[in-house]
Amino acid sequence: MIIGVPKEIKNNENRVGATPAGVNELVRNGHTVYVQATAGEGSGFADEEYANAGATILPTIEEVYSIAEMIIKVKEPIESEYNLIKENQLLFTYFHFASHEPLTKAMIERKAVCLAYETVERADRSLPLLVPMSEVAGRMSIQEGAKYLEKPLKGRGILLGGVPGVRPAQVLILGGGVVGTNAAKMAAGMGADVTILDTNLARLRYLDDVLPANVKTQMSNSYVISELVKTHDLIIGAVLIPGAKAPHLITRDMLKLMKPGTVLVDVAVDQGGCIETCKPTTHENPTFIIDDVVHYCVANMPGAVPFTSTQALTNATLPYAVQVANKGWKKACADSEELKKGLNVVNGKVVYKGVADAFGLEYTDVASVL
Ligand SMILES: NC(=O)c1ccc[n+]([C@@H]2O[C@H](COP(=O)([O-])OP(=O)(O)OC[C@H]3O[C@@H](n4cnc5c(N)ncnc54)[C@H](O)[C@@H]3O)[C@@H](O)[C@H]2O)c1
Repeated sequence: MIIGVPKEIKNNENRVGATPAGVNELVRNGHTVYVQATAGEGSGFADEEYANAGATILPTIEEVYSIAEMIIKVKEPIESEYNLIKENQLLFTYFHFASHEPLTKAMIERKAVCLAYETVERADRSLPLLVPMSEVAGRMSIQEGAKYLEKPLKGRGILLGGVPGVRPAQVLILGGGVVGTNAAKMAAGMGADVTILDTNLARLRYLDDVLPANVKTQMSNSYVISELVKTHDLIIGAVLIPGAKAPHLITRDMLKLMKPGTVLVDVAVDQGGCIETCKPTTHENPTFIIDDVVHYCVANMPGAVPFTSTQALTNATLPYAVQVANKGWKKACADSEELKKGLNVVNGKVVYKGVADAFGLEYTDVASVL
């Protein structure tokens, strides 16, 4: 198959759809890979590395789209890319269609085959192509939180791990899923005093077994949260209710209970946030302050660490990309329930129910396009 890896053109997006190692794997499977010049630059991969891995470098995005049967990228195509997409061209990337009607309509119109990372789903309902970004965001939440606790950045001026003779910071994590667990590991490793909350008792039992002794687990409810916010220095929002907006576990009134300089990192901001006063921010301007409480609410946290994020993402996407390239999308999706769930829009038809419902569009059963 002829595969194209374009450079991401979305504002501040430095990740890339394939690493040189990924390209090499595809080439070794008999495929031809075209990579746009400087596509990997933001993630630390030079054109030369792609060329050594077996790719051909093309100077423009137009050439990549025009030659490729399958495009592997990271973010959804943006408006200037819509007209480059051809009928039957397979796009394997994050789309998040349900929150973007013009994109959905454009992909229907272009008659592309859209295989979305975010809806590839395992039998246990886990989302293997979302997990790596949650791991990155969870770990990064502590790194960012520790930084904003510094006085010049308007935090309490407390060192996460303390020093001998001085108590460490207290870190509260709301939600013990992928983000929360990774945050807890980092905070515990830095020596903080960590409390992690979840509503799922089985999950709390598991976390209690695997996390170090400086992480305590507690059942999540609004009474417990309003007590804990009084004493904690750094609070991480990491809850998810699949398919729904995040619940506001920290209300505006609770800010008054917090110590001045408390730092809130709401990782769940992409689902509306679990802190009522949170609104999305960017890497250029990541924080704002309300009632002396620092809010960090960057919606695409992994974008700041593209070297790590690109490799984490492609480690997860590559095995699927190889299946699709080897078998063709129809056979690969017919053979794999996981990949089949990734199909959203196929040749003008919406084959993912949630997307059709979001915009009142006609839904076509995926089986009829395979
Ligand atoms: N900002 C970013 O850059 C970024 C990056 C990756 C993920 N995210 C977001 O982070 C959030 C968490 O993702 P995840 O992968 O960890 O999800 P997950 O499903 O692995 O974990 C969510 C956890 O929240 C728990 N939960 C639900 N309701 C709760 C409540 N009332 N109190 C406490 N816990 C509760 C669930 O039991 C579950 O354990 C999602 O909204 C995701 O989209 C954001």
